[in-house]
Amino acid sequence: MVELNKIFIAQASSNIAFTKYWGRRNSQINLPNNSSISMTLDENVSTRTGILFSKDLNSDYLYINNELQNIYDSLIPEKLKFIRKILDEMKQKANLNKDVNCLIYSENSFPTSAGLASSASGAIALSYVLSAALSLHLKDSEISVMSRKISGSGCRSIYGGIVEWKKGLEEDGTDSYSIQLQNESFWPELRDIIVIVDSQEKKVSSSIGHITTVETSILYKARLNFVENQENPQLRKAIQNKDFETMAQIIMQDSDSLHAVMLDTWPPIIYLNDNSKEIIYDVLDLNKQNNKTIAAYTFDAGPNAHIITTVDYIDKIIETLRHNKNLKIKDIIVSKQGTSPKLIINKEMTNKILKIYDDLKQNLI
Ligand code: PMV
Repeated sequence: MVELNKIFIAQASSNIAFTKYWGRRNSQINLPNNSSISMTLDENVSTRTGILFSKDLNSDYLYINNELQNIYDSLIPEKLKFIRKILDEMKQKANLNKDVNCLIYSENSFPTSAGLASSASGAIALSYVLSAALSLHLKDSEISVMSRKISGSGCRSIYGGIVEWKKGLEEDGTDSYSIQLQNESFWPELRDIIVIVDSQEKKVSSSIGHITTVETSILYKARLNFVENQENPQLRKAIQNKDFETMAQIIMQDSDSLHAVMLDTWPPIIYLNDNSKEIIYDVLDLNKQNNKTIAAYTFDAGPNAHIITTVDYIDKIIETLRHNKNLKIKDIIVSKQGTSPKLIINKEMTNKILKIYDDLKQNLI
């Protein structure tokens, strides 16, 4: 039973992939061509999503970072369409009366201007809070599947620590969800230094990139084979043995392979810029100077770097980057491993939701 007029708030983190998801076998429900392994990040890189179901709202409302989103138009972005679809599916599953609508309010812990992708943490926070507010008692795997449909990479944030998204084989995607490889206390020294060099919107969205790479890249097949048959098995073992050097090598090679197939896509997809290249060279130099691999760079669909390292080297790495005169840094966020999503109590957010709710009831919006 859904509790009307009660606010539920969930907090969920983003994640950084060590082996990346790129290319799908089904774009409707985000089924990937390869399994991917990631580290869940902490509350510095997270989303809080609150939800309130009520009979006093004339439709569903979604606010992301204080902005009302149009979730009804047919021309809205893919991710919003999925949110609309999931919302309908879940309301139906909970047997909600037609006169019950909801207000969703979602906000990131990091500034939107940081240029970090927020769809992963947003998707998992929404899936988690929906399941709780509608008392659906969904299993973790089901919440992971729900989140996958909104944002593929988001399905890995269902767990803290180190997580693997199994690509699955079923056509309906019921076996394409994430499992936890290690919880956050297994290797607590791991850190992600996120170096923000650009806050612009990306030129090619990942949704389009997933499709055009599969359609046009000649190198893509070789990458798939490499990720599935070499990188993932070796990475699982390296993680289990806390073998940082092997893990770091795989992380860097996988990022390079991803950006190689992106460049090999037609029209080419170029996410890295001169700042990204400076960071790559700084990390390689640091490893050389230390006579061992102390850090690994990795890049998603953008120029901002994630440098995976252990707690002892954070200062040294940041100092090296700050001394590089050719590198223009906007911001640096250091993240530990984060936990699974959780329900929280947050007065400030509760008040914001109540204010919007009142305005909506009085037709002030
Ligand atoms: O989840 P999407 O559709 O935004 O795809 C993002 C994929 C990468 O971030 C580039 C890699 C990954 O596995 O997170």
